[in-house]
Amino acid sequence: MSARSETESKGPIGIFDSGLGGLTVFHAIRARLPQYDYCYLGDTARTPYGSRSFDIIYRYTLQGVRALFAQGCPLVILACNTASAKALRSIQQKDLPRHFPGRRVLGVIRPSVELVGRLSQSRKVGLFATAGTVRSESYALEFRRLYPDLTLHQEACPMWVPLVENNETGTVAAEFLVRRHVDALMDRDPDIDTIILACTHYPLLLPLIRLYVPGNVQIVNQGPPVAERLEDYLLRHPEMERQCLKNSRRRFLTTGTAEEFESLAAAFFPEPLNAEQIELG
Ligand code: DGL
Repeated sequence: MSARSETESKGPIGIFDSGLGGLTVFHAIRARLPQYDYCYLGDTARTPYGSRSFDIIYRYTLQGVRALFAQGCPLVILACNTASAKALRSIQQKDLPRHFPGRRVLGVIRPSVELVGRLSQSRKVGLFATAGTVRSESYALEFRRLYPDLTLHQEACPMWVPLVENNETGTVAAEFLVRRHVDALMDRDPDIDTIILACTHYPLLLPLIRLYVPGNVQIVNQGPPVAERLEDYLLRHPEMERQCLKNSRRRFLTTGTAEEFESLAAAFFPEPLNAEQIELG
């Protein structure tokens, strides 16, 4: 397909995640921009991505993005922090220009960094994320580029995703593991005044995190800033906006079984939904 005919087709906005957690971001996007059609793809068969290598995350994410392009999506949001951290730049710089010149892929890191940079007074910021996101240094790089005056302290929380996925957020184990990482982060710099929840699953731990984080510290949930930046992007790029269908429809695709996706989605997305299984490769 030529670049020209590609830019003329219309389709839903794609949302890609390693699994179900991206539904927290999708929920905020749909609340802010309900008029658009969306196609959500969760790679639930291969989740979690958080501890995987750069090469694997890049390969899986590219497969997901290609599948969403095949569904007609002109624009794909990587709701997953790990994918945004480890695959977005390569896809934007290498794969899109070469194979999909008319399509766009956006991530969750920049909108979160922009908001936190505006909010923090002390210029000391904390971040909770998967080990993969922390190791990638993507947030640190983005902060250095946009707000070099700001100091970022990162805390990898490898057990938080399994806690959420196993519905263990109300347990003593969850209290222990949340408190341990909150204390470790705040011990590093008690002047931290803003913390980013840089993982799709962490909003589900927010009540616990709030319990242990000092009351004066602001906690940033990524859904709303990502939705706000998407709205702004569509306003600034009418050529992309024109290609997004507006019938308020939504589809959910999963690489795992549809039944599992539908039953587990309830924790992340407060509406009943139907999922369809697809294969990536
Ligand atoms: N979606 C991932 C993220 O936001 C968390 C789950 C995973 O490790 O795949 O980093």
